[in-house]
Amino acid sequence: MANKFTKEALQSLKSVGSVAPSSKFLAKTMLKHIDFSSPLVIVEFGPGTGALTKPLLSELSESSLLYSFELNETFANQLDQQFADESQLKLIIDSALQFDEYLLADGIDKVDYFVSSLPLTLMNTQSRNILLDKCSDYLADDGYFLQYQYSLNSYKRLKEKFATVNVDFTLINLPPAFVYVCSNLL
Ligand SMILES: C[S@@+](CC[C@H](N)C(=O)[O-])C[C@H]1O[C@@H](n2cnc3c(N)ncnc32)[C@H](O)[C@@H]1O
Repeated sequence: MANKFTKEALQSLKSVGSVAPSSKFLAKTMLKHIDFSSPLVIVEFGPGTGALTKPLLSELSESSLLYSFELNETFANQLDQQFADESQLKLIIDSALQFDEYLLADGIDKVDYFVSSLPLTLMNTQSRNILLDKCSDYLADDGYFLQYQYSLNSYKRLKEKFATVNVDFTLINLPPAFVYVCSNLL
């Protein structure tokens, strides 16, 4: 899995944004902020080879839904095969920026958790602002926008969009990663 990821990453470094998939430790650091005990709508951005998708699916309660948006067709086709039996997963080969169109079509107007692996610092400013504004609008009152990054450079940007931004960290990832835990509540 790591070899496939690295091959794609080297071809499209700007959109993939890292050379290795996230470690189990980073997945745990992201997912420990999710309360899986009730039915949830979760939107994942950039599942790649499924490092976060797999543990998300294994924790989801039966009536929950996971929308995963992946731009890279090689990754998306592989995920499609890997998770073909997972009825809770809606895998969408499109940009994260279009997520609201797909939710609207399914009559969903609130998201409990966003789980984002997007390389925020490599995105153009306008697209990043549009996306983060949409996420903040769609976030349920008790929901969270979870985003990992390899630096603290995104703190200020996220603080402009969300009332509360806390930062978690894991050393055991290549490279070590910060997890931003954002909400609309003070
Ligand atoms: C850093 S990789 C993370 C992969 C995986 N989630 C992990 O943690 O190992 C970022 C992923 O985001 C995808 N991506 C980049 N821009 C995107 C966009 N606008 N919409 C959807 N996916 C995007 C890339 O193709 C890549 O799979």
